[in-house]
Amino acid sequence: MAKHKTPLLDQLETGPWPSFVSDLKQEAEKRAKNKKGLELQIPQDVVEDLLGVLELSYKHGRTHWKHGGIVGVFGYGGGVIGRYCDQPTMFPGVAHFHTVRVAQPAGKFYSTEYLRQLCNLWDFRGSGITNMHGSTGDIILIGTTTPQLEEIYFEMSHNMDQDLGGSGSNLRTPADCIGQARCEYACYDTQALCHNLTLEYQDELHRPAFPYKFKFKFDGCPNCCVASIARSDMSFIGTWKDDIRIDAEAVKAYVGGEIKPNAGAHAGRDWGKFDIQKEVIGLCPTGCMKYEDNKLTINNRECTRCMHCINVMPRALRIGKQTGCSILVGAKAPILDGAQMGSLLVPFIEV
Ligand code: HEM
Ligand code: HEM
Ligand code: SF4
Ligand code: SF4
Repeated sequence: MAKHKTPLLDQLETGPWPSFVSDLKQEAEKRAKNKKGLELQIPQDVVEDLLGVLELSYKHGRTHWKHGGIVGVFGYGGGVIGRYCDQPTMFPGVAHFHTVRVAQPAGKFYSTEYLRQLCNLWDFRGSGITNMHGSTGDIILIGTTTPQLEEIYFEMSHNMDQDLGGSGSNLRTPADCIGQARCEYACYDTQALCHNLTLEYQDELHRPAFPYKFKFKFDGCPNCCVASIARSDMSFIGTWKDDIRIDAEAVKAYVGGEIKPNAGAHAGRDWGKFDIQKEVIGLCPTGCMKYEDNKLTINNRECTRCMHCINVMPRALRIGKQTGCSILVGAKAPILDGAQMGSLLVPFIEV
């Protein structure tokens, strides 16, 4: 039996998408059962109270979280985001409900052993609710109390080789795409660069040095899987200087329908016969491609490396061989002003 009635939240479960409300209810139930018999360090019904306070916010049309307050661990000016509820009597479980940012590894590779350790720690000392991963890139652990913070940090730093991420006016935890580990489009080793700069700027990551947050993000190619172009003050985006490599036989196979376009993505629906003119040539933003007499040509000097043609026909078209990255500065997506594009500072640099 739920501690609080949540008719408004319940409606959200009826939509077509997986619902965070169902997830939270599941977690609330898990904590209530506490099968492992953990000595839970924050209230057992924390998730129930989280659902309760959110329901109240929906009813009142305004938040019942107070904004911030500085909490953290000794020596660090970031990594923990303080949250307090303005209805602590009604919802004592979430009277404190701080978020912990945990630095993710480059490329987000984990061992199951590590993940188990992290989840066990968070079940024990936090709400059990995680966000893997936040828009910032970090592992986000949502909801714990002030006395738990040092304990969590001690466990992470002593037994898990794990550091906190950035928050506030710090350098934020740098984030990269999976890059050369899995992706043939990667024009440089995003993980290496991300890892190196993370270590280089440890101090800026942990102690607020700027008037506002600052983000680096690393994308191996202009597909921008970590959206560096829109979401970081300094974006490193893979690119190439020479020509797109064309495999003429494979182009024919796409045109003839032997190879599925877009690597078979969207294939669950019948889109009709592949039309290279309409789906590739006509959509090239710079109009620099031609398909004449069954032959594809590209005026590479006009190509802006938008990746469209390569994404549609990955077996026929490949990025060039002289690869490196472009560096852009100045983009950000501040909450009040909305997304702002960066400016291209360094068009090409070998990495
Ligand atoms: C007064 C209440 C709150 C305020 C003002 C607030 C505001 C913010 C802000 C400014 C950020 C940082 C965005 C950035 O990195 O640029 C953030 C991150 C986040 N907040 Fe809150 N928040 C509040 C309550 C909550 C609550 C109650 C939850 C969860 C139940 C929550 C979950 C998160 C998560 C998961 C992130 C990290 C997102 C990411 O890195 O992608 N916040 N919040
Ligand atoms: C009309 C309502 C909403 C709007 C307009 C909205 C808008 C956005 C936008 C623009 C982002 C992406 C930020 C970025 O990637 O740079 C975002 C991310 C996020 N939103 Fe919302 N949001 C809404 C409702 C919600 C609700 C109801 C929740 C949870 C209860 C939520 C939780 C999150 C979280 C956790 C992220 C980070 C996702 C990640 O891990 O990358 N949002 N939201
Ligand atoms: S940004 Fe490019 S290189 Fe990185 S994972 Fe995405 S497609 Fe691959
Ligand atoms: S990468 Fe983009 S701009 Fe370059 S040829 Fe292909 S579609 Fe045109």
